[in-house]
Amino acid sequence: MEMIKLNIDNRTVEVEKGTTIYHAAKKLDIEIPTLCYMNLGDLKIEHKPGGCRVCVVEVQGRHNLAPACATECTEGMEVQTHSIRVLNARKTVLELILSDHPFDCLICAKSGNCDLQDMAIKMGVRSIPYQGEKSTYKPDFSPAIIRDMDKCIMCRRCETMCNDFQTVGVLSGVNRGFEAVVAPAFERDLDHSECTYCGQCVAVCPTAALTEVDHTTQLIRDLADPKKKVVVQTAPAVRAALGEAFGMEPGTLVTGKMVAALRRLGFDYVFDTDFAADLTIMEEGTELLDRLTRFLGGDKEVKLPMLTSCCPGWVNFFEYHFPDMRDIPSTARSPQQMFGAIAKTYFADKIETKREEMVVVSVMPCVAKKYECTREEFKVDGNPDVDYSISTRELAMLIKRSNMDFKSLPEEDFDKPMGESTGAAVIFGTTGGVIEAAVRSAYEIHTGNTLKKIDFEQLRGIEGIRSASVDFDGVEIKIGMVWDMHASCSTTSKPARVSTTPLRLWLVRVVALVVADNRCTTAIPRLLRHARRPFTKRIKISRSVNRTKTHTSSSFMRSSLENR
Ligand code: SF4
Ligand code: SF4
Ligand code: FES
Repeated sequence: MEMIKLNIDNRTVEVEKGTTIYHAAKKLDIEIPTLCYMNLGDLKIEHKPGGCRVCVVEVQGRHNLAPACATECTEGMEVQTHSIRVLNARKTVLELILSDHPFDCLICAKSGNCDLQDMAIKMGVRSIPYQGEKSTYKPDFSPAIIRDMDKCIMCRRCETMCNDFQTVGVLSGVNRGFEAVVAPAFERDLDHSECTYCGQCVAVCPTAALTEVDHTTQLIRDLADPKKKVVVQTAPAVRAALGEAFGMEPGTLVTGKMVAALRRLGFDYVFDTDFAADLTIMEEGTELLDRLTRFLGGDKEVKLPMLTSCCPGWVNFFEYHFPDMRDIPSTARSPQQMFGAIAKTYFADKIETKREEMVVVSVMPCVAKKYECTREEFKVDGNPDVDYSISTRELAMLIKRSNMDFKSLPEEDFDKPMGESTGAAVIFGTTGGVIEAAVRSAYEIHTGNTLKKIDFEQLRGIEGIRSASVDFDGVEIKIGMVWDMHASCSTTSKPARVSTTPLRLWLVRVVALVVADNRCTTAIPRLLRHARRPFTKRIKISRSVNRTKTHTSSSFMRSSLENR
C-alpha cells in the first residue's frame, strides 16, 4: 500500500494513497463538519456526493475551497481546516441552504434531532441574509412515511440507501436546478411507487424531509377515552433501544421499566410480541413440514424453498416486484398481526369487550409495521387487527411528555397470558434466530426429539449467506439464511464482479427454508431469480391487489392459549 504525507493545520500525517482529506483529518482528531456525507461503516456504505459544501477546507495552491469529504490527499498537501476564509464560506453555504427552508423548527417533527438545525447552531447562524424564491412542493402522505420536499437539502443520502443498499430503486433525483428534488419516478407519491416502507431512507435523512407517520395523536385520544380498552404489544428490539433515549448505555435492557411506563401511560394491558413470535414459529414450522411432506410425497406443485414472512417490508417487496413468486413465502402472518388477531378475538372474548371498543397498539422498531396494520386483509369490517403502530422514538417521546422519571420506575412484569414466551421467541430477534426456531419446532413435531445444534456454514465466495443441513429422520434438509443484503445483491446485479454460479448451486441445495433479516428485503427474490427460471415477465401491480396469502391458525393458537 502506497503511503503519502501531508500537513493538516500544520501537523504532519501519513495516510494511504486515496484517503480523503476528511479521513486524514480524522486521524489527527480534527473534526470537519459534514452534512451530505454519510459513513455507515458497519454496512460498508460511504456516501460522498460532495454536494453541500459544508465540509470545505483551504488547500494551499488551489484557488477554490475543496470539499474535504470528496477530495483525495496528495503528497505534500498543505490543508487548513478552520481558517477565517473556511469558516465564512461554511456559514455562507449554510445560510444559502437555509434561505430555501421553511422556518417551522418549533413545530417540526425533527426539532431537536435535526442535523441541519445542529449545524446552524454550530455555525452561529442568527439571520438569513439571502431572500429569494422558496420551494412549494405538495407533501406526500403515505401510510408509513411523509415526504416534505420543502425541507429537502438534496444530500441524496436517501437515494443511496434506497438504490445501493436496499436496491429497491424508488428514489432518484428528478428535475434540474431549483426544481430538483428526490422523488419516485414521474414524481409519483410513495404510495403509488414500489416503495417497500423499509424506512432506511427515513433513518438517514438529516432533516424532516422524510419522517415516519405519527400515530401518537390518535393514540393519546384513545388512552384518555374511558370506554376504550387499550392493549399494547412491544417488540423485542424496543426494550433494548428505549433506554438510550433516557441517557442509558445503548443496548441496556429496560423491559421492566418499559412495562411500568406503559401502564402509567394508561395502557390497560401490556403484552409481549414474543408471545406472537412463538405462534409464528409454530405456524412457519408446521407449514414447512407440510410443504416438505407433500414434496417428498411426489407433489410437483408444492413451492420450495419456503421463505419466512415476518417482515412486512419484505412481503411488500415480493408482492410488488415479484408477483409471480407470491406463493414462495410462508403464509403465516407477522407476529404483529398474529398478536392483533388474537387480541381482538380470543382476548376480547375473555375480557368481554367488543372489538370496536378494543384498541390494539404495537411498539415496533420499523416503520413498515405502520403500513402493515393499514392493509385491508388485516381488518374485519374496516376495523384493523392492530390500530396503531408506534416506533421506539414515539414511545420515548410519550414517556417524556408525561413527565415520568423513567430511570427510577420500578421493574414490572408483562400481563398474562399474552406476555409469556419461550426461548424460541427470544432468539427470534437475533440473526438466524427465526430459521433456527422454526426448524427446531418442525424437527420436534416431526421426530419427537429435540434438535441439538444447527451449524451454519458461511457459503464460500459469497459474503452474507450461510447454509446448514439438518437430518430429519434420514431425510437431509438444507436451510439457509441471508443477512447481508448488500453483499448478496452485488453478486446478482454485478455478475462480472462475482460469479453467480455458487449462488445458483446454493439455492439448488437449499430445499427447505430461507430466512432473511429485514435489511435483506430485496436480496432473496433476486437470488431466486437466478435459481428458478423461467419466471414470467415483471408485472406491474397495484398495491391493493395480488396480496400474499396470510393466515392465522386459530385452532392452534386457541389450544396453545388454553393450555397456559
Ligand atoms: S422506505 Fe425503503 S424502499 Fe421506500 S423509498 Fe425509503 S429506502 Fe426506498
Ligand atoms: S429527502 Fe432527506 S435524505 Fe433525501 S435528499 Fe432530501 S434531505 Fe437528503
Ligand atoms: S459533507 Fe462534504 S460536500 Fe457535503
